[in-house]
Amino acid sequence: MNSIFTDTLKGKNTSRPPVWFMRQAGRVLPDYNKLRKTYSFTELMEDTKLASEITLMPVNNLKVDAAILFSDILVVPAAMGMKFNFSGKGPKSSVTLKDMDHPANFLKPDENKLEYIYRIIDEINKDKSPDIPLIGFCGGPLTTLCYMIEGFGSSKDFPETVNFFYQRKEEAKKLIDLVTEVSILYARQQIAHGIDVFQLFETHAGVIPANLYKEMILPSVQKIGNAIREKNTPFIFFPKGIGTGLNFMNKDIADFISIDWQTPLSVARKILPPEVGIQGNLDPRILLMKNKKDIITELEKYSGFLSENSNWIFNLGHGLLPNTPIENIQTTVRWIKNKNRI
Ligand code: CP3
Repeated sequence: MNSIFTDTLKGKNTSRPPVWFMRQAGRVLPDYNKLRKTYSFTELMEDTKLASEITLMPVNNLKVDAAILFSDILVVPAAMGMKFNFSGKGPKSSVTLKDMDHPANFLKPDENKLEYIYRIIDEINKDKSPDIPLIGFCGGPLTTLCYMIEGFGSSKDFPETVNFFYQRKEEAKKLIDLVTEVSILYARQQIAHGIDVFQLFETHAGVIPANLYKEMILPSVQKIGNAIREKNTPFIFFPKGIGTGLNFMNKDIADFISIDWQTPLSVARKILPPEVGIQGNLDPRILLMKNKKDIITELEKYSGFLSENSNWIFNLGHGLLPNTPIENIQTTVRWIKNKNRI
C-alpha cells in the first residue's frame, strides 16, 4: 500500500504528518446525520452497505488520510452475550456484571456474532480506493469492562468497576482474560478481512492507578498487540488518562501511542522511547471555536513538534465532539496538508 499513513507507521520518512480524527465517522458529518433521521445507530452499524458508506464519508468530506471502520467498541461485549441499547444518550445494558456472583459464567462468547462486521470490512475494501488505509479497532480491556461491569451513565469515573477490581480481583482477572481472548480473535479476523492498521481504544485507562493498570491490564494489551503485529499490521494504543503511566509504554507494547489532550506532546516525547511513534493530541474542544484564526493559532503551536519529529500522526487527544463545525475540521486537515517537513 502506498500511503503516507502506513508509511509513517512503518517508520518511513514522509513529506508531512498524516492526519485522521478519532470519531470522524459519525455525528460531525451532515450526510451521517441525514441517515440518522431514517435509521437508528444500531441499524446503520449493522447494515453492510450503509456502514461501508459511513466509513468512507470522512475520506471524501474531510479529506483525511485514513478511514476507520464505522462500528463501536461494545460489539465485543455483545458477542459475549450482553445487549446494549443505543437509543438514549449513551449505550445502556439491561444487565451489569457487578450484580452477579459469578459473572464469568454468565458470559458466552460467540464469535459468529461478529461475522456481520467482517462482511462490512469486505464491502469497504470493494468500495474504497486502494490507497486509502482502513483502521480496525476494539476497546481496551479495561474500557470494555467498565461498560460490562457497571454500564454507562452512573459516573464517568466508573467507581463500581474500580471497586470490583480491588474487591473481586480473581473474578476481575477471569473477565480480563475472557475479553482479551475475544478481542484477539476479533482483531485477527479484522486483519484477515483486510484492515491495514489496528487501534486499541483504552479511553478509561485513567480510572485506576497506573501501577494497577500495569499489573492487571497491560499484559493483556501486549497480548492483543502481539497478535496484531504478528500479522505485520501496525498497532496504535490509546491509553487515555494514563498520565505518568506513559513510562510503562515501549516498543514491546505498541508501534505508536496515541496521546490524550491532557499531556503535552513534548513531554510524551521525552517519556516514550524514540522508536515509539506518537499520535495526537489536539484538544477536541479547540475545534468548537468560532474563529478560524484562533484555530490556526492553536495549530501553529504544533509547528515545532512537526519539524522535529518524523514519527508523528496528527489526531485529537480524544474523539471529535458532536457539534464540531465541519469547516473547522477541514481547516485543520488543510493546515496539516500544507505543512512540509523542513
Ligand atoms: O472513530 C470513528 O468514527 C469510528 C466509529 C466509532 C464509534 N465509537 C461510533 C459511535 C468508534 C471508534 C467508537 C469507539 C467508542 N465507543 C469508544 C472509545 C473511543 C471514545 O470516544 O472514547 C467508546 C468509549 C464507545 C462507547 C460509546 N459508543 C459511547 C459511550 C457512546 C455514546 C456517547 C457518544 O459518544 O456518542 C457510543 C455511541 C456511538 N459510537 C456513536 C457513534 C457514531 C453515536 C451514535 C449516534 O447517536 O449516532
